[in-house]
Amino acid sequence: MSLFAESGPELDRESFRLIGDMVNVFCGIQLGNDARFSVERRLGDRLEALNLESFHDYYQYLRYHPRGPSELEHAVDLLTTNETYFFRELAQLNAFDQDVLPELREQAGVRRSLTVWSAGCSTGEEVYTLAILIARSGLFTGWDIRVFGNDISRRVLQTARKGVYRGSSFRAMPTEYERHFIKTPEGYMVEPAIRAMCHFGHFNLLDEARVAMVGHVDAVFCRNVLIYLDEAARRKLIHTFHQRLHAGGYLMLGHSESLLHVSTAFELAHLTGDLAYRKALTGGDREWRR
Ligand SMILES: C[S@@+](CC[C@H](N)C(=O)[O-])C[C@H]1O[C@@H](n2cnc3c(N)ncnc32)[C@H](O)[C@@H]1O
Repeated sequence: MSLFAESGPELDRESFRLIGDMVNVFCGIQLGNDARFSVERRLGDRLEALNLESFHDYYQYLRYHPRGPSELEHAVDLLTTNETYFFRELAQLNAFDQDVLPELREQAGVRRSLTVWSAGCSTGEEVYTLAILIARSGLFTGWDIRVFGNDISRRVLQTARKGVYRGSSFRAMPTEYERHFIKTPEGYMVEPAIRAMCHFGHFNLLDEARVAMVGHVDAVFCRNVLIYLDEAARRKLIHTFHQRLHAGGYLMLGHSESLLHVSTAFELAHLTGDLAYRKALTGGDREWRR
């Protein structure tokens, strides 16, 4: 009988800690103790694929095998939580539409270019949602518009680039936006004019060299990503966003996320029905809270 026939090898506490530390150093994701069984389940098939007998062997493979680095990427891909959908957190998106976009139009009027970054975009619904809002605002006609999404998972980016979605992706989308999708046998495809505004990249948000290639942006959406990261990674990421944003640019976090105890570098912006963070127009960098 195969070792994997009924239930795979157990992820012992020590191997869980060692693998968790590697994942954390690589991408900031923190695997709490309650994640041990889900890690065991998600990585179990990798042991079988690599013909390894225990999670300790898997840890050794990650650390010492020449293919360890690419296997770590694979493991992280399997461990990420990728839940997302169109028009998620609608009140915040309304505030972005009504308050932030007009302000960005004023600020970026001379350059006539607008870049919005969805950091940790998963399967792309957030990217296309933002592009739809920008296009419908009518404020940027003739501008160079770029909505850019990145993720550490190659798996989700395949879906994002394809731009074809089914049922649950639309669970919070008001019907008025349906006209931006074309029915196909595989599902609903984002219309070409919106797709043309959107670009995707595969990289780790903690990889400074890759992040620098994003250039400067007018707004960052980093929603439902910080909750999975430890404090050091959060702090590093917020510092990165501050560096990437133009003065006066906006940082939009998920509703359960805030900069409390992370950074004092941003101003709090009171929008219609929501709060956001804004990089000051003047005054340079503020202190980073330790
Ligand atoms: C829950 S999804 C959020 C998707 C979208 N922002 C939303 O709010 O609907 C979190 C995404 O962040 C990505 N992620 C986590 N850590 C990352 C890192 N260090 N670099 C890039 N992406 C990361 C995950 O792969 C996952 O797809």
